[in-house]
Amino acid sequence: MTAISLSHPQIHPGGVPLLNNYLEFKANPLGFWFNVGKQGPVVKVNLGPKRPFWVITDADLFQTILAKKAKNFPRDRQIRDRKGLDRTKTVFNAPTYEEWLWRRRLLQPAFHTKQLKGFAETFVSETQRLIEEVDLTTPIDLVFMMKTLTMRIICKTMFSASVAETAVLQNCFERLGEFNYRRLSAALKLPLWVPTPHKLDAQEASNTRWEMVEEIVQERLTSGEAKGDLLDMLISAQLDDEEAFGNGGKFDGEDLVSEMLSIIFAGHDTTAMTMVWLIYLMTQYPEVEQKLRAEVDGVLNGRTITLEDIDNMPYTHQLIQETLRMYPTVYLTLREAEEDDLLGDYPIPGGTQLVINIRGIHRDPTHWNDPESFRPERFTPENNKARHKFAYLPFLAGPKKCIGDSFAMMEMRLVIPTLVQALNFTYASNKPAKEKAGFVMETAEPVMMKVEKQVS
Ligand code: HEM
Repeated sequence: MTAISLSHPQIHPGGVPLLNNYLEFKANPLGFWFNVGKQGPVVKVNLGPKRPFWVITDADLFQTILAKKAKNFPRDRQIRDRKGLDRTKTVFNAPTYEEWLWRRRLLQPAFHTKQLKGFAETFVSETQRLIEEVDLTTPIDLVFMMKTLTMRIICKTMFSASVAETAVLQNCFERLGEFNYRRLSAALKLPLWVPTPHKLDAQEASNTRWEMVEEIVQERLTSGEAKGDLLDMLISAQLDDEEAFGNGGKFDGEDLVSEMLSIIFAGHDTTAMTMVWLIYLMTQYPEVEQKLRAEVDGVLNGRTITLEDIDNMPYTHQLIQETLRMYPTVYLTLREAEEDDLLGDYPIPGGTQLVINIRGIHRDPTHWNDPESFRPERFTPENNKARHKFAYLPFLAGPKKCIGDSFAMMEMRLVIPTLVQALNFTYASNKPAKEKAGFVMETAEPVMMKVEKQVS
């Protein structure tokens, strides 16, 4: 019999009594995860008195956690315990694999490319509406602009919401998101019943968004009117195994509200911030802007883009892919070992929490030549084929891969050409934009842009 040689995580050095590595993390979360990733493929950190994590930065181990043994490594218990302010029950926070699967199977058909094609016109018309609204007299806040756009797009395609309803929801999501992220990353937490002003505000935001979407769902269920949006598809989705979760194989009213809120959450900031980073980078690299504009003008020649055009715009696609590599809006995610297991050759105790270091692997020289350079051209079909499948994970991989990946890519491949065709952006600050960790990767400051109409 050959003996198996076992490995053990490296320990991240430094730290102070009780808080351990928390202060280093808190001072610069993104830098912290990145440095830990450079230390080794599996590194143990401690973010407080009782918050150990194994930080994983290794494509083979990602493949094991996210695909080969996905059932043994569910999302982290903080996500699944559903004890936060947010009372939604969704595919994202399903406590068991069975419930996750049931929800995913009901949602999946609504995200099929065939269905998404019907949304292409909305992606373009909402961008055109925004272009008409842009104030050309003073620098604009690009983050707010792109969040407004993606929020309008998701609310319109989800449930045909009006611009006014969308603005209220956008405000609620901002307030609740900030509270939840601060809580998730705190070393010690106050119990949720403590009525701090911040908690009361987040609670109010959570209730308002619930009531708004509930009203929309109830109205649709009562009227039975079909509007051709995602809500219609989720209402009519039906699984054959009717006993599943006691709902006759369907989403009930509460599920519909929950799933829609979670899709809005998952689908708007992620896409908005990717486009913010892309436009910012375009203003920093004149040769990138030139190539992008040449492609857009060459294919469109002044007319409105259609879905058929995007396959003729490979550079636009590469630019989005490279933006997602260097600035992955979901820069990490969490998993947990359900029970004692062997992860590669690392014996892992049940209950261990894992950080999937997405940004770390995206800048790992093992997989990327000159990883700190911004080079859209690296995403050639040959390079994509040759690369380890788990070294590029902007949408993750395996069964829990982002359900909205095709939605997001189609959206960005239509929105970006529409924007650059109509507008010129000039970065209106002499300080480079900096990354900031939140639920998604934000920018530390608003990204101010001077915008002019493009002269054809
Ligand atoms: C650039 C844009 C986007 C990025 C980078 C992104 C990234 C991700 C990632 C990394 C996950 C996996 C998280 C985990 O398992 O811990 C995820 C899950 C998910 N995403 Fe996205 N996403 C984007 C856009 C969207 C859009 C547009 C939608 C919906 C319209 C969406 C809906 C979802 C949902 C529902 C899940 C949970 C899937 C499941 O549990 O089975 N995402 N996304």
